[in-house]
Amino acid sequence: MSHPRPIVTPVTRPRTIHRCTACQATTARWAGRCSACGAWNSLEEAAAPSAPSDLRRCGADPPLPISSAAAVASAVLPTGVGELDRVLGGGLVPGSVSLLGGEPGIGKSTLVLQMLASVATGGRRCLLVSAEESAPQVRLRAERLKALNPNLWLFTSGSLPEIAAAVAHIEPVVLAVDSIQTVVDPAVGGTPGTVTQVRECAASLVAQSKLRDMATVLVGHVTKDGGLAGPRVLEHLVDTVLSFEGERHHALRLLRAVKHRFGATGELGLFEMAGSGLVGLPDPTGLFLGDRRKGVPGSVVVAALEGQRPLLVEVQALTAEGQGGSPRRSSQGLDASRVAMLLAVLQRRAGIPLGAHDVHTSVVGGVRVNEPAADLGLVLAVASAFCGRAVPADIVACAEVGLAGELRQVAQTPRRLAEAARLGFARAVVAPSGPSPPAGIECIRAADVNEALAQLDLIPVRSTHPVREVPRVVPHPAFDDGRSREPPQRRLPPAS
Ligand code: TYD
Ligand code: MG
Repeated sequence: MSHPRPIVTPVTRPRTIHRCTACQATTARWAGRCSACGAWNSLEEAAAPSAPSDLRRCGADPPLPISSAAAVASAVLPTGVGELDRVLGGGLVPGSVSLLGGEPGIGKSTLVLQMLASVATGGRRCLLVSAEESAPQVRLRAERLKALNPNLWLFTSGSLPEIAAAVAHIEPVVLAVDSIQTVVDPAVGGTPGTVTQVRECAASLVAQSKLRDMATVLVGHVTKDGGLAGPRVLEHLVDTVLSFEGERHHALRLLRAVKHRFGATGELGLFEMAGSGLVGLPDPTGLFLGDRRKGVPGSVVVAALEGQRPLLVEVQALTAEGQGGSPRRSSQGLDASRVAMLLAVLQRRAGIPLGAHDVHTSVVGGVRVNEPAADLGLVLAVASAFCGRAVPADIVACAEVGLAGELRQVAQTPRRLAEAARLGFARAVVAPSGPSPPAGIECIRAADVNEALAQLDLIPVRSTHPVREVPRVVPHPAFDDGRSREPPQRRLPPAS
């Protein structure tokens, strides 16, 4: 009996594809709704792109061995705004396009104007295209920021062809467009801010930047949910995506690189919004710990790390007997589900009866701490609030807490502890496996939550849990003689 011949399906390229008229996304099959932008009945049949074998006919460059590809000449241009340069890994790269995204009112226009003024002060020509605000409005802000510089040019227009003409006329080294959502290309059609308009305008500005070797910064608004008509659809077009964040009611502003083709994305830039613009915070601990009250139950300092930057922040907790019904739980600057998990660990592993108590937790200073290194600090703060005894003021906490109540070492513990030692903290509660501490700080090693609580005398009288006998920590003499080791007090400027 002969074996049937295998059926070989020839690999053929489809001759047609389907393109969305709203967002230009392509798909092989027709569907009633575009999977990229969600528009209904927007898919139209279009000719498929040419096959790789057509490369020569198209005049495209043939593929190269990677070692033969030309290296990028990336001499960075420092902007002179220290915290921005830190995030960018030195400065702007000529020919690159960066997108600065953030909620309205967070300070994007302020940052961009300060950046351009700083570059202009270095003798380089800069162009600010303001498509949102009038020239007098921008001038007023520039006066406030002391940004009136002859090398800084202003063009108020939202028309893409006009912007292209202004760029050709001024030939700036750095161009900023505020904002990309208000720029419109009459050739594309539709209103400013639609996905097609935003993408087409940005693509044109990207092409101009590459052609002229000009660094471009596009400002884009994002809404609370990270959403639409702008930054999200541009992320793949640009080289760098910067996110400018902060709580509206706090002066602290955080700048992060979400995407960076020329360097790492871990760095964090910190600014304070003051009356005369954004002020860089190379040493932000004063802002986070400046007004801390020592000896208050429910307050613990956590050695956190943002990007490559160690940050010491105060975690606070308050517990109160519930008024019947479900107990209230609120958390600010912390991940609510992580807090819920840690409260369950405290209840089950340390026997602290929180079930009928309202628990409020927060991170002071308007910063968000999402990393597990804050776990132990939060657990200690809640236990301290519950039993009404303060954690000694010279202690920092730095460990992850597992579901079994065990303490785990966190990444870069020595860097965190070195920063704590620099700021005068004398002792750190860490996991047993933690590395030896840097000079100036001593480690209190605890295997689990129970041990940590016992060492700090935070076991509540009502605890139902058996506790192993462990030596208790006595207050450090340096903190008993009335001398403070904490940084000098620093108050936030009044909101302008
Ligand atoms: P802005 O840069 O206009 O924000 P965005 O471009 O992101 O919408 O600044 C918004 C807020 O910053 C505004 O409410 C006022 C405040 N601000 C200051 O506090 N100090 C200053 O020097 C400036 C220029 C603005
Ligand atoms: Mg603005």
